[in-house]
Amino acid sequence: MTATPIDALLTRRSTKMLTGPAPSDAELAQILQAGMSAPDHGAMRPWRYVLIRGEAIGRLADMALDAVKRSGDTRMTPEKEKATREWLAQVPLVIAVAQKIDHDNTKIPEHEQLLATGASVMNLLNAIHMSGYAAFWSTGLGTYVEEVQDKLGLDALDHRFLGFLAVGKLSMELPPLQRPDYRQFVSEWNGL
Ligand SMILES: Cc1cc2nc3c(=O)[nH]c(=O)nc-3n(C[C@H](O)[C@H](O)[C@H](O)COP(=O)(O)O)c2cc1C
Repeated sequence: MTATPIDALLTRRSTKMLTGPAPSDAELAQILQAGMSAPDHGAMRPWRYVLIRGEAIGRLADMALDAVKRSGDTRMTPEKEKATREWLAQVPLVIAVAQKIDHDNTKIPEHEQLLATGASVMNLLNAIHMSGYAAFWSTGLGTYVEEVQDKLGLDALDHRFLGFLAVGKLSMELPPLQRPDYRQFVSEWNGL
C-alpha cells in the first residue's frame, strides 16, 4: 500500500544514524522550498539556513569543537570530541538554522517570529523524511558559543542561532517509535 502524506507525518522520527548520500540538489531545493511554506505573521520570513556540505563538514567540526574547547566548556571531553568527529564524518549534509532578528519591527512579537522559524524547520524535517532521508536537530556543536554562529555568517547581533540539522540516509533500520496518545494533550472547550 502506498504511504499517504499523513503516514509520512506519523512516521517521521529523528535519528543520528546517518550516512551518505545527501539529498540531490533537486531534492534539497524542494526540501528548502518546503521551509518557505511555514505560517509567518507579518510575512517576516525570519528563518535563515546555511548549508554545510561534504568536506566543509570536517571544517565545521574543527571550527566548532575548537570554539567550544576555548569557551571552557568542560563537557567537551576528548571522548566526546572523538565521538562528535566520528559522527560528523558520516553525515553528508548539515543545515545551520537561525532566526533573523528584525530590529525595526515593532508589530510582530519576537516569539511569533521564533515560532515561524520553528514551523519552517518542521517543514524541512518533514520534507526530508518524505524525500526518503532522515535528520537530527541538535543544539550541540557550539550552538551557544557566539563565535560559532559568527563564523557561520550568522552574527549574534542580528540572529538567534538555533542549531544544526544533520541530514542523510538512514544508516540502519530503526524500529517504529511509540508516540504518546494525543488525548493526553488535548482538551475541548465548549463554552458552556
Ligand atoms: C531545537 C531543538 C534542539 C535539539 N537539540 C538536541 C541536542 O542537542 N541533543 C539531542 O540529543 N537532542 C536534541 N533535540 C532533540 C532531537 O532533535 C529529537 O527531536 C529527539 O531525539 C526526539 O526524536 P523525535 O524527533 O523522533 O521525537 C533537539 C530538538 C529541538 C527541537
